[in-house]
Amino acid sequence: MANKTRIGILLSGRGSNFVAIANNIDAEVIPNAEISVVISNKPNTQGIQTAQERGLQTAVVISRGRPRSDQEREVVAILKAFGVKLVCLAGYMRLLSPWFVQQFPNRILNIHPALLPAFPGNHAHRDTLAHGVKISGCTVHLVDEECDHGPIIVQRSVPVHDSDTEQILSERILQEEHLAYTEAINIVLDGTFKLAPRHLAKG
Ligand code: GRF
Repeated sequence: MANKTRIGILLSGRGSNFVAIANNIDAEVIPNAEISVVISNKPNTQGIQTAQERGLQTAVVISRGRPRSDQEREVVAILKAFGVKLVCLAGYMRLLSPWFVQQFPNRILNIHPALLPAFPGNHAHRDTLAHGVKISGCTVHLVDEECDHGPIIVQRSVPVHDSDTEQILSERILQEEHLAYTEAINIVLDGTFKLAPRHLAKG
């Protein structure tokens, strides 16, 4: 396991993106990384249960009812204790403070179920359907101090059909999310890019 980049996964629920990443690490589609710890800010999540079944280290650091700074300090302390060098937000329903972002400069990834900069925020599928766009998809980006905003690493597109519901559209996009996150991790770990203000340029 020497020389593998240690990944910390943050999630709040189902964890299907986490599972896709874990499967691709096991299959060496992501050859240069390992998952060191999976952290949830909510209790009793499917994601944490799955991580435990896979024999991974887990932690639950509840966010509800606590000052943001306390919860974040605890999460960052755990990530650093595990030697995490790349943080992957995988359905982590919590905006990170600038302090948190600065703990891992250009080393925090997020996945969003729309083609950013269109439809940021918590209602991407609803907003996509409400605007009647014909193409949507997902975006993996570096996390900066603004919500769903940092440099774009990978996007994958899907058609939007007139008959789509939020559920149907989200399932179609999710299939692409599971591919996009792996592509993005490999690009970041490969390191042959230059950071442009809003995207990664070929190095
Ligand atoms: C995904 O749609 C992701 O884009 C969004 O939250 C959802 C998480 O799904 N940020 P899962 O927990 O990975 O299954």
